[in-house]
This record gives sequence, C-alpha cells and structure tokens, in this order.
Amino acid sequence: MTAENGISRRAALVKLGIFLNGIVGAALAVPILRYLLSPVTRERRTGYDSWLLLGGLDQFPAGQTRLATYKNPVVNAWDGETGDIACWVRNVDDQKFQVFAINCAHLGCPVRWFAQSNLFMCPCHGGAYYQDGSRASGPPERGLFQYRYKVEGGKLLIKAGEMPTPGQPVANKAGGKTTCA
Ligand code: FES
Repeated sequence: MTAENGISRRAALVKLGIFLNGIVGAALAVPILRYLLSPVTRERRTGYDSWLLLGGLDQFPAGQTRLATYKNPVVNAWDGETGDIACWVRNVDDQKFQVFAINCAHLGCPVRWFAQSNLFMCPCHGGAYYQDGSRASGPPERGLFQYRYKVEGGKLLIKAGEMPTPGQPVANKAGGKTTCA
C-alpha cells in the first residue's frame, strides 16, 4: 500500500464517518423538533376549539350527577383509552347543567361523587366540594373547574380545548353556561 493510497482511504473513511454521523444526528433531531413544535402543530391540526360530544341527554337524568367521558381533542391515533377523559355531569333541572373537570382543584387527583352526602370528595388530601362544584372543605382554594357546555339536538356538548389547571382564578358561579376555568 502506497502512502497516497493510505491517505485517500483515510480521507474516504473520514467522509463516510461524517456522513453517518449526519444521518444519526438528523434521526435524533426529527423527534426532538416534533416534540418542541407539537403544541403549535397539534392545535392547528385538531381544531382545538370544537365542541365535543358527551352523550345524549337521556344519559343524564334531572337532579343527578353522572360520570361521562369525552375524547381528548389533541388525541393521537395510538393513545387508545388514555385519550378518554372523564368528567362529572350534573343535570340541575333539565334546563341547566354543570360539567365539572374530574381533577381536584388542589393538585389534580380525580374526585369522586358521593350521592349519599351530595359531595365530591378527593381521595388524596381530603378536599371536598358541594354538588354545585363549590369548595366545601380541605386544601383546595377554589371550586371544581367547569367546562362550557351547550345542548344541541338532544345531546350535551362541551368545549374542552382549554384544559383547566390548578391555580387559575376562583370559579365564577354566576351561570351554568359560563366557564370557570
Ligand atoms: S389533590 Fe385533592 S385535596 Fe389535594
């Protein structure tokens, strides 16, 4: 092997190494970029502001509070059942409804409805809420978050694009069709 051959082989190997490094770098960069840009691209792709179906009105009898689920508006095809989000629906009098986020306003644990005591209870730190979602006792500083809703064609729909997060302003209890989040 001549010195010239050795240099050209070394140069070719260096170029091959740079090329392979470039491919690996690009393969790593794509998912990172997709992750970083996902809040923007998801919102555009899914129509974040659309009304989501909770179910027919016959599923929510007057005077009762029932568990319901809706599809996460930013769900991916592979999310499966994790794309289903639970919420509590209170049919006040067949005219007025309240749709509560299932998450406690303290640190987000799922609250449960106890019809016997007319209270929502949080299993994590003992937070309690009255049937209208207002705070009853415990660490939460505010009532349960509420979704905006509408009734259309005998079905109950909600706006769930703006996911509630703890720490937002205190609930507006003025009307059933306003959002508290
Ligand atoms: S998370 Fe519900 S009381 Fe703390």
